[in-house]
Amino acid sequence: MDRKPLIAGNWKMNGSRASARSLLDGVLQGVQSVKAAEVAVCPPFVYLADVEAMLQGSPVAWGAQNLSPEESGAFTGEIAGSMLNDFNCKYVIVGHSERRTLYGEDDALVAKKYAVALEAGLIPILCIGETLEEREKGITEDVCARQLKAVIDEVGIAKLGEGVIAYEPVWAIGTGKTATPEQAQDVHAFIRSQLATEDQGVADKVRIQYGGSMNAGNAKELLAMADIDGGLIGGASLKAEDFLAICTAAG
Ligand code: PGA
Repeated sequence: MDRKPLIAGNWKMNGSRASARSLLDGVLQGVQSVKAAEVAVCPPFVYLADVEAMLQGSPVAWGAQNLSPEESGAFTGEIAGSMLNDFNCKYVIVGHSERRTLYGEDDALVAKKYAVALEAGLIPILCIGETLEEREKGITEDVCARQLKAVIDEVGIAKLGEGVIAYEPVWAIGTGKTATPEQAQDVHAFIRSQLATEDQGVADKVRIQYGGSMNAGNAKELLAMADIDGGLIGGASLKAEDFLAICTAAG
């Protein structure tokens, strides 16, 4: 299947205006040699204007880490999809496990955000994945299926083909404990098979990224797996050299 891998940096709440600029300088210097992957960065909201100015016309796309499920109105502290459009974001992450666990985002809210992102013309990167406790209980597939189903129920299977899925085992995020390529591949194949039960075309087309302590040292093995179509990179996206090494490993 011809799915161009997507390597996306999730900067989370890190850095400063100055460090964001120097990180992008570094990425721009090396990105010309990345041929086989699409590259994107997701900075904190407040740096989007700078990021847009620096990246427009370059091969690097950009996006946000979250959006409001509402279009506009009295929602203090929230950011609407249309506002992300003002900065020409291509992507927006929805349902990251940190949003789910630290900010109480449930499946229904994540599904609404997925829908609103598409309506705004953004490509949602839908994060799903099990906690350590869920893996140990042997319910990894049930959890992923449930998280996926909430979105399919909200928008319909065809719209899953318009987004990107990121499988991120929660126990691997920021812990330095990566899923083995086989562990990740098993779940990726399961996710694709779930989609295939509803629509084979969507299953074949949708990119499923792996996320969770992917780094310059383990990226190649993970990205070599048949159903792993890129990575959502946290810690290792904060150093240009490491991030570029992962992008190159997608070759
Ligand atoms: P990590 O984060 O690469 O630092 O584990 C990945 C993510 O949370 O998207």
